[in-house]
Amino acid sequence: MEAIASYRESFLNYLEQNAPQREPDGLYAPIRYILDMGGKRMRPVLVLLSADLFGGRVSDALPAAAAVEVFHNFTLIHDDIMDAAPLRRGRATVHKKWDLNTGILSGDAMLILAYQQLEPYTGEAYPQLMRLFSRTALEVCEGQQFDMDFESRDDVSLEEYLNMIALKTAVLLGCALQMGAIVAGAGAAEQQAVYDFGIALGLAFQLQDDYLDAFGDPERFGKQVGGDIIENKKTYLYLKALELASAGEARELQDLYSIQPARPEAKVERVRQIFQESGAAAQARQRIEAYTEKAFSGLDRLEGRSRAKAVLKQFGEWLLKRDF
Ligand code: IPE
Ligand code: IPE
Ligand code: MG
Ligand code: MG
Ligand code: MG
Repeated sequence: MEAIASYRESFLNYLEQNAPQREPDGLYAPIRYILDMGGKRMRPVLVLLSADLFGGRVSDALPAAAAVEVFHNFTLIHDDIMDAAPLRRGRATVHKKWDLNTGILSGDAMLILAYQQLEPYTGEAYPQLMRLFSRTALEVCEGQQFDMDFESRDDVSLEEYLNMIALKTAVLLGCALQMGAIVAGAGAAEQQAVYDFGIALGLAFQLQDDYLDAFGDPERFGKQVGGDIIENKKTYLYLKALELASAGEARELQDLYSIQPARPEAKVERVRQIFQESGAAAQARQRIEAYTEKAFSGLDRLEGRSRAKAVLKQFGEWLLKRDF
């Protein structure tokens, strides 16, 4: 835990020093707003941690960590537009505080700023980082499109859901870890092992995000609890509930997911009840643990890196316990 806190500290110092102090304000104020508003900072922590564990210098990995976090925050601005989300990290979302056009352009600029962060890298690391980052960024877009497509489909399978969350979320965790390994000059097998750890952990992470979206404490979660239900998101909870509920309740759930009432409270409450009573909520918790375990067991491939394994496990355990 101390190691994790110290990586976060280093990153926050770097971010503060590198915040874009330029004009026009209409473009850069929203960027500073979202980058300043906190968050877990888990992706940059993963970059630094991975670089450190593979024998690199944390300071050399700071630009890569910033690339990943700025990219992540860009996706959040656009994701909040796409999900019609009012709240992020306990504050108004960018498109609510400003407007839609501001969210679009500030987001676009952040994608470019993210790439600029990679400019200092040279030698073999540079093309490796660029290839990984671009592939990942495109995959995130693919995942986001599947997520949107699924809102209006009623035949989404669990397999399709898992592929969607791998793309929209897990690949960026894998990418963060692999970027740290690249900066440290780790070999291909070790790069792949940490990438795969990130994928399994990322699946657990998104399942938990979906769980908290339905059952989190609004004070702690920082986002609108019930937002996924309001938007008819085809999450694990929904798909599993359809499978486990009685025929009558499954039909009721499908009916509830075919409407977007102006006052969603009753819908959210009833859907949460079906998620609980069907056993879908309990199964989601189990899947979260199972993917976390899977991530841990893959770490056996990191032979001779006992400290790396221990710190990555600590990180996974911390993530599993989060309520925000
Ligand atoms: C939110 O990510 C988007 C998802 C992939 C679920 P985080 O939960 O990491 O958001 P912050 O950065 O900590 O706010
Ligand atoms: C977000 O998934 C994934 C990306 C931002 C790419 P969600 O839509 O579940 O993320 P939150 O819950 O809004 O943070
Ligand atoms: Mg969202
Ligand atoms: Mg979304
Ligand atoms: Mg979510």
